[in-house]
Amino acid sequence: MSLTLYLPKDAAALALGADDIAAALTAEAAARGIELRLVRTGSRGMVWLEPLLEIEQDGLRHGFGPLEVSDVKSLFESDFTDHAKALGPVEDIPFFARQTRLTFARCGVIDPLDLNAYRAHGGMAGLERARGMAPEQIVAEVTESGLRGRGGAGFPTGIKWNTVLQAEGPQKYIVCNADEGDSGTFADRMLMEGDPFCLIEGMAIAGLAVGATRGFVYCRSEYPHAIRTFGDALEMAREACLLSESFDIELRVGAGSYVCGEETALLNSMEGKRGTVRAKPPLPAHKGFMARPTVINNVISLASVPVILAEGAAHYKSFGLGRSLGTVPLQVAGNVKHGGLFEAAFGMTIGELIHDICGGTASGRPVKAVQIGGPLGAYFPVTLFDTPLGYEECDAAGGLIGHAGIVVFDDTADMGAMARFAMEFCAVESCGTCTPCRIGAVRGMETIDRILAGDPAAPAILADLCETMRDGSLCALGGFTPYPVESALKYFPEDFTPRQEAAE
Ligand SMILES: Cc1cc2nc3c(=O)[nH]c(=O)nc-3n(C[C@H](O)[C@H](O)[C@H](O)COP(=O)(O)O)c2cc1C
Repeated sequence: MSLTLYLPKDAAALALGADDIAAALTAEAAARGIELRLVRTGSRGMVWLEPLLEIEQDGLRHGFGPLEVSDVKSLFESDFTDHAKALGPVEDIPFFARQTRLTFARCGVIDPLDLNAYRAHGGMAGLERARGMAPEQIVAEVTESGLRGRGGAGFPTGIKWNTVLQAEGPQKYIVCNADEGDSGTFADRMLMEGDPFCLIEGMAIAGLAVGATRGFVYCRSEYPHAIRTFGDALEMAREACLLSESFDIELRVGAGSYVCGEETALLNSMEGKRGTVRAKPPLPAHKGFMARPTVINNVISLASVPVILAEGAAHYKSFGLGRSLGTVPLQVAGNVKHGGLFEAAFGMTIGELIHDICGGTASGRPVKAVQIGGPLGAYFPVTLFDTPLGYEECDAAGGLIGHAGIVVFDDTADMGAMARFAMEFCAVESCGTCTPCRIGAVRGMETIDRILAGDPAAPAILADLCETMRDGSLCALGGFTPYPVESALKYFPEDFTPRQEAAE
């Protein structure tokens, strides 16, 4: 008898014991004389259900989770049907059923290193279409789709590509930003671990569009599984002639600095220099890597391109709201009941996502706020939960959507301490180039301490300091640090009342 089972091997599933489950499944199958084919996939993104085992029955993938090793024997005894951990068809689980999976369509479904499975699930259709198009046509299709950079700034991808297409240069480059430094974000990692060929395909299309023959992926060293899986995928793509001299990709590993996610610091790091920001202009599109015209895009921006080319710009932009078109992988973490990756059309409200889909906090206490867009994103109190998740909409509410990481806090969170942490984070991570960022963050910590000690002069000083940091920093590190500080002060003034220990 033979049996096929699917089990994730992405970092989150491994951290929750997926390899132990795999070993137990293998041993149990052997003991029963069953020939087991265990397909190791990426994650579906429902982290609270990991390790999530799947089996195909009647054409549908049925799930079991979160599994413990002690469940394995009874799973076989139940013949993978009526079991306490049975979840039914995975795609019917409400968290999954309510998603629009375009970029993550294959993630958690196929073996990430199976090129045949990639093709069988729609992979390569975008690149094949692009090969029959002129560079200008590819750029026009991406522009028409409305795709905007998913790395944070939301700059239109097609316009960036067009600048590089028009730029003169003997060599052009595609650089993929996989630094993913924002707290609570994991979409880039999940994509690289779960569907690496999708990123390779997106980069190859970008190369065709702008006339680049070399690509680089800059990934943080804290992602060993992504590095391994993506590195293996590169080798396989070369063997399959998907990558060749006409377009090849090199994987570079950063040493772990938040500011190296900023595109110009990233380029310096890739060139072997200190990771400090460069003044713009020149734009990387004109003078980027080694002073050559360079496209720098986030993993998700590039991984969204294959489906745009395969299905057409009109299909992609039929999702979304206003100027935020297509889908966005919302990453929900922190104190949340059902956390994970939720790919949705732009426009869902924060409240719908956090309360209806993610089930509120893990602690069961009321939600106090969410922080959107990483450690330098604003806090949104529940009174702003009717804000739709879109670039302009989050901006109008005083924040940013950024890389779409959302961290949930319950009513016990101390927002005064969180605001101080934002300043501390900036002080630690500042590259030192801009004085308002380098010095301002240190003075910011001191000034918050003075507020917490009851100094009546300190709030006005902090307001001035925030303004100076915002206006006087080259990059968003110093420029965005005021977001969490000001939103914490505005919505949670009670968390800034003098504290006994600070006053003593
Ligand atoms: C301090 C700082 C850190 C950043 N970190 C990242 C990062 O980890 N990943 C990323 O894609 N973009 C990051 N960015 C944004 C990049 O500078 C850049 O906008 C992005 O790579 C462009 O790609 P996109 O247009 O596809 O979003 C960061 C920006 C700043 C100011």
